[in-house]
Order: sequence, then structure tokens, then C-alpha cells
Amino acid sequence: MRIFNFSAGPAALPEEVLSRAADEMLDWHGSGMCVMEMSHRGKEFISIAAEAEKDLRELLAVPSNYRVLFLQGGATLQFAQIPMNLMAGKGKADYVVTGEWSKKAAKEAQAYGDIHVAASSEDKAFTYAPMDWDLRPEAAYVHYCSNETIGGVEYHVIPDAKGLILVADASSHILSRALDVSRFGLIYAGAQKNIGPAGLTIVIVRDDLVGKAARGTPSVMDYKQQALADSMLNTPATYAIYVAGLVFKWIKAQGGLAEMERRNVAKAKLLYDLIDAGSFYRNPVARADRSRMNVPFTLADAKLDDAFLKGADSRGMVQLKGHRSVGGMRASIYNAMPVEGVRALVDYMKEFEKQHG
Ligand SMILES: Cc1ncc(COP(=O)(O)O)c(C=O)c1O
Repeated sequence: MRIFNFSAGPAALPEEVLSRAADEMLDWHGSGMCVMEMSHRGKEFISIAAEAEKDLRELLAVPSNYRVLFLQGGATLQFAQIPMNLMAGKGKADYVVTGEWSKKAAKEAQAYGDIHVAASSEDKAFTYAPMDWDLRPEAAYVHYCSNETIGGVEYHVIPDAKGLILVADASSHILSRALDVSRFGLIYAGAQKNIGPAGLTIVIVRDDLVGKAARGTPSVMDYKQQALADSMLNTPATYAIYVAGLVFKWIKAQGGLAEMERRNVAKAKLLYDLIDAGSFYRNPVARADRSRMNVPFTLADAKLDDAFLKGADSRGMVQLKGHRSVGGMRASIYNAMPVEGVRALVDYMKEFEKQHG
């Protein structure tokens, strides 16, 4: 029996995708091979990768002057790879800090140049998304995290980068809503939330930003070399690319990003409405900046946390424990979480409040 998995990542995948991967496990499309066993240079895998890219481009309406790269090293490697590729020449970049992930990105970038914090929400414990950015016109780019997975803070509009190149860590909400890629110089995301298995990182980068890596950049980290090699400078994360491709097809079959967004709005509303209905549960994030994907909440008394988690577990709802830096609970409700899972959680929360409130 499948459970409702509220993990922030690696996260639940659509059941249909897992079933399809299972059906194709021993023999992919009459090839007599599992995708894991295929040469990345063979015609079968090349067709799988090309189709995954085509479907992703279609879903996000990626303009033709952007490259889509299927890389490794997680979003964390991008924290270094971005300054290595984009900062050369200028030596300066601006960062917006709205939570643990953008803070880490800014810290990592410090090794490569002069980093200026253009805005921060640390004054209010990372509970809002500042729109007013103090940008340096001479900076090579401005980086922000469009959805902070730990704090549950999401930018619902793309901020004005005042002519600077805008770079976004969209790891935890990519494909959850439509996105105007043309507003960005670069968008990146680790796959293990809304895309597919861990081990794959997607980078969407505008053509004119490719080919500017600093001297000494390892070849696998140079966007240009990866772009020239169709992301196969070395062996890519083949199986993760295949499963991501199945997820893209699943999203298309559901109705694309507009339908994902409609479902995600409805799911998040169910949870936030319950949290706001009384004083037993609490979410500290400014209402306009609350994440649709990651919903952190605390109980009126932290001593009840263990009982809450135990009760959830016995009802087939797992991975609800909040991040250690925030405490309480966190429900990650990515695309693959069905509305039934959120309803089950909300029903349980009501019942728990009745018993303990
Ligand atoms: C917004 C965000 N950025 C970066 C990361 C780091 O990703 P990875 O573990 O793929 O390096 C995460 C991971 O959970 C994340 O949620």
C-alpha cells in the first residue's frame, strides 16, 4: 500500500510514473535492456534524453535562446558553479537572502568574488520575501531563491532585477506553476522534489551567458562544455533523466503547468485555511509570501510534536517533521501529492486539535 509522503526531498513521485518505470524495468521499448544498462551514447538513451529535453522545453515554454542542461552535483554544486561561470570579468554579484538555501548560496559564492547582500529577511527570521532590492548596477548577476524549502517562503511574482541578470534557485517549486523563463538569465533546480530522482540537476541558461567560465573551472562544471556535449561531457545521471522524462510526460497528460498550478493552489489553501482557522496551529510566514509547496507549521505546544507525528504515521502520513532549524512540522505538497493526501492530513489535524487543543 502507498502512503502519503510529505518529504521535502527526495519526495513522492507520481504513482503512474513509478508504475510505468516498473513496467519498463527489464525491457525498455523492446530493447531488451533496462534504461540503467544503456550506454549514454547509444541511440536508445539519446532518444530518451532528447525527448525529456523537448518535453521540459514545452512545459516551461523555454525560449529557443536558452540551453537546457541535465547536470549532476545537486543544487548545491550550482552555488559554486554559477559564480564560476557568470562572475568572471566583473568579480561581483548580488544575493538576496530569504532563508537557509539562499544564505548557503551567498556564502559559497564568497569564495569567487565580492558578494553583496541586496536584501535579507533575516531580521524577521526569514518569514517574508523582500521585493525591494539594493542592487549594484555593476554586479554580474543577482541571485535569489524563488521558493525557500525550509522556511516555506515563496516569491509569487518575479522581482524586478533592474537590468541585472536574474538567477533563481527554483529547486522546490519548478514545474508547480507557469514561469516566464525569459525574465531570467539562469534558473536551476535539483530534481528530487518536483522533477524526479535525486542525482539530476536542471540548469536553464540563456545562450549569451554560456562560454564565460573563469579559468580553472573544471570542464564538467563549464556550461559551455556541457552545452556543446548535450550534457554528456561525461556519463550523465541516465536513469534519473529517464524518470524525469516520465514525470514531464505525466505533467503534460494532466494538463500541463496551468493544471499543476490550479491543483497546488487548492491543496495549499486547504492547509493554510485550517492553520489560520484557530490558534492551535501556526505558520509564521507573511500571508502573501507563503509557499504553495512547503507548509511549515507549529503546534500550540511543542511537547505534542511527537504524539502528532506518531498519530500521522499510524494513519499512513510520513515525513512531516519540520526542519531542525525551524522545528514543528512541515508538509511538502509537491505536484505528486494528490489532494486526497492533503485532505487526509487536514482531517487528522482537526482530529488532533480536538483531542489536544
Ligand atoms: C531551495 C533549495 N536549494 C538547494 C538545495 C540543495 O539541493 P541539493 O541537495 O540537490 O544540493 C535544496 C535542497 O533541498 C533546496 O530545497
